[in-house]
Amino acid sequence: MSPEFVHKTVMTAEALDALKPRAGGHYADGTIGGGGHAEAILATSSPTGWLFGCDRDGAAVEAAKRRLAPFAGRFEIRRGNFGELADWVSPGSCDGVLFDLGVSSPQLDVAERGFSFQQEGPLDMRMDARQGLAAAELVNNASAEELAKIFWEYGGERDSRRFAKAIVHDRGLRRFETTRQLAELIERISPRHGRKAHPATKVFQALRIAVNDEIGSLKHGLAAALKILKPGGRLAVITFHSLEDRVVKDFGRAGARDYTFAGGVDVPELREPRLPELTIVTRKAVTPGAVELAENPRSRSAQLRVFEKI
Ligand SMILES: C[S@@+](CC[C@H](N)C(=O)[O-])C[C@H]1O[C@@H](n2cnc3c(N)ncnc32)[C@H](O)[C@@H]1O
Repeated sequence: MSPEFVHKTVMTAEALDALKPRAGGHYADGTIGGGGHAEAILATSSPTGWLFGCDRDGAAVEAAKRRLAPFAGRFEIRRGNFGELADWVSPGSCDGVLFDLGVSSPQLDVAERGFSFQQEGPLDMRMDARQGLAAAELVNNASAEELAKIFWEYGGERDSRRFAKAIVHDRGLRRFETTRQLAELIERISPRHGRKAHPATKVFQALRIAVNDEIGSLKHGLAAALKILKPGGRLAVITFHSLEDRVVKDFGRAGARDYTFAGGVDVPELREPRLPELTIVTRKAVTPGAVELAENPRSRSAQLRVFEKI
């Protein structure tokens, strides 16, 4: 992999165990990143397995193409949101789909991307730089109520209202342009006092989720994955925080339920009676093993859930 895109792939063995790639199989990686999982899928499905890959991030797409060059002729990679996978991958064509959510290490480490409160950079946070709304626009234009809602709902930030009010006050004096400017405001009103996590952690996570519409994309992505899977095909999703995991868990529960009981209490209003669409392969989320946890601290919060299309 090129030195400028270094990302340590998490839970590779567990993802392969879930998808069981084989020669002749078709797979989709909706978050191709640096191509770590994709490489493992292509290697395991040699010599004839096929991979569709996408990522919102142009730098990731380029890095993945470089890394997967030895498998040329066995993959198609596009830049885009995994919510749009079903627009270019045929329905019912895949044996396995993988989403490894969240950010890649280069997104966090490159200061100019504006994801990190530890490095000075423009307040950007867009995974896809072609997309309109950067974090600065949200921070400088959203109302205090909107900001507090974002910090609370996407970050679980208890001081959401206090932070939102302070932002609205300070931006009247000077626009927020940089990551450190925002982080310093939060450090000022909520000093660290020996706490392990930086006080701006939750606010930055929340802004990133809002800027990239991560929850909306995930819901679209899960529905698209189900469309492109063959019956018996598997969907594996790795999440990094409880909000994402809840969306994935709820998707699994809803898809696994039998909604055909006409008139029964189980039929939510407005829902067409329908048969279950998937089975839940992992009742409990799978987490990384001790060796991986010791080698890669970023894997600490990873959780894998697996579903099989009926
Ligand atoms: C954790 S990294 C993936 C790493 C990759 N599995 C590997 O082994 O190198 C997550 C990637 O997902 C991408 N991403 C997040 N949400 C996305 C979405 N809705 N559509 C497409 N890509 C997305 C990010 O840009 C990032 O590159």
